[in-house]
Amino acid sequence: MSTLDQLPVPLLLWYRENARDLPWRRDPTPYRVWISEIMLQQTRVAAVLEYYRRFLEEAPGPAELAALPEDRLMKLWQGLGYYSRARNLQKAARQIMEEYGGVFPNTYESIRSLAGVGDYTAGAIASLAFGLPRAAVDGNVLRVVARVTGDDGDISTPAMKRKVTEALEEVIPIEAPGTFNQSLMELGALVCLPNGAPLCDRCPVAEFCRARKEGRTGELPVKAAKKGRRVEERTVWLLFHEDQVALRRRPSRGLLAGLWEYPNGLSGEDSLAAWGLTPSSVTPAGIGVHIFSHIEWRMRAMLGELPSEDLPEGWVWADRRELRDTYAVPSAFACFAGKVEERLRRDRP
Ligand code: ADE
Repeated sequence: MSTLDQLPVPLLLWYRENARDLPWRRDPTPYRVWISEIMLQQTRVAAVLEYYRRFLEEAPGPAELAALPEDRLMKLWQGLGYYSRARNLQKAARQIMEEYGGVFPNTYESIRSLAGVGDYTAGAIASLAFGLPRAAVDGNVLRVVARVTGDDGDISTPAMKRKVTEALEEVIPIEAPGTFNQSLMELGALVCLPNGAPLCDRCPVAEFCRARKEGRTGELPVKAAKKGRRVEERTVWLLFHEDQVALRRRPSRGLLAGLWEYPNGLSGEDSLAAWGLTPSSVTPAGIGVHIFSHIEWRMRAMLGELPSEDLPEGWVWADRRELRDTYAVPSAFACFAGKVEERLRRDRP
């Protein structure tokens, strides 16, 4: 990997003028940086802002987070996806309470030992909150470095991540490691854009960027194609009794673990019979698609009226208020929210 020696000065000057004013940058305590970095994995800044505000209001520190009831935690995360992130946050908050007396650990290794904290997040907290000279290498940073150095290594491999981490730790300015890392992320987010569309005319390091010099910004970074998604056809049951809709809790492990859902099953299976339910009427209620990282759900909803309040073990009835305030139903089912709302309004405006 060619040297990155020339990177820090122009990048830091550019960042001073161009950094976005983001809440976790204003008061970068380890706790605030940690929550923001976990939320920002897989999720855009604009989508995170409101979640971040609400989360810190309800869990302003590790003690409050450790004590949060599971359903509250899931409700705070509802819509962000990748819910194991939230569960790991709570696990780690309990580690901080039990193993570190409620004080956020302050070495790279101890931060890295927290649940859900990988190399990237440990590097981000260590540098942004503690001023330690550690790199924080995520997809944005890999893209920037692969282009600047003209490296065609596959950025989805651990070997390339290690190479980039080592190259950055050789040049990270000892007096401003956090600002340096943020400036790299910011360049990736605002200028060195993915999918062959970088804004090189606004780039502070364009003059020594190898990809630009060699006309290869469209080819770099190199990233192995991901495996395809499995498609599942599912029938989703919107089951009502008076002013309530039936929900069931998903299993405690796996996809959307522990969240609440409209009962559903693979299309072609006779779910109603398996559940022992006999609606008095059944009507089609629309279709929806939800794409997860490795599965695609193609859903067909059916609306059913249940004459009795009896439900299978572990299911609950939720009215409009409970649906809004109590039960975390993931975005996968958001395509049916309008139908549910419309039907619940009918019985109680
Ligand atoms: N994406 C990941 N971490 C970020 C940060 N600290 N600021 C802005 N975008 C980010």
